[in-house]
Amino acid sequence: MKYTAAVITMSDKGSKGERTDTSGPAVQELLKENGWQVVYTNLIPDDFETIKAELIKCADELDVCLVMTTGGTGFARRDVTPEATHAVCDRQVRGIPEAMRAESLKITPMGMLSRAEAGLRGGTLIVNLPGSEKAARECLSAVIKPIRHGIDVLRGESHDCARIHKEEHHHG
Ligand code: MTE
Repeated sequence: MKYTAAVITMSDKGSKGERTDTSGPAVQELLKENGWQVVYTNLIPDDFETIKAELIKCADELDVCLVMTTGGTGFARRDVTPEATHAVCDRQVRGIPEAMRAESLKITPMGMLSRAEAGLRGGTLIVNLPGSEKAARECLSAVIKPIRHGIDVLRGESHDCARIHKEEHHHG
């Protein structure tokens, strides 16, 4: 199976060319290092309807396994990435943002300020990351490995969690 991914950056300034986004490229690089094929990227403004349409396109038209978003998860009035994600998903995945925040809090108390969510739309997993390159890297590193198994189960490639636990055990 091909592990396909899209990376969408939400940034009003970035989309107007007023700021160079480094979080999107950093996330792409981390995904590639972990065996993911990044087939689509985009930089869009922090607009609820635009974000929703972009996520729907990635899931329903491009049919990627994984959509990683960066930015728009904080307290600024324009930060609506989690709300748009919630609106397009049919099932929530609470454990992924829980794990990201747990790891983030070991690094900085600011980790509690990211309102990131994750959810499933059909056969696509959508995960929000914070917008700074540092934060995006830290959060993605915390969850990237188990996500692969989640996609296998979602896409019907594997239902055998027991086998995976055994392998992990053997490898120490
Ligand atoms: N998470 C990690 N791991 N490392 C960080 O430096 N920064 C936080 C938080 N999460 C941070 C982090 C800060 S300062 C904010 S405001 C929120 O993410 C939201 O970021 P966003 O609005 O760019 O999405």
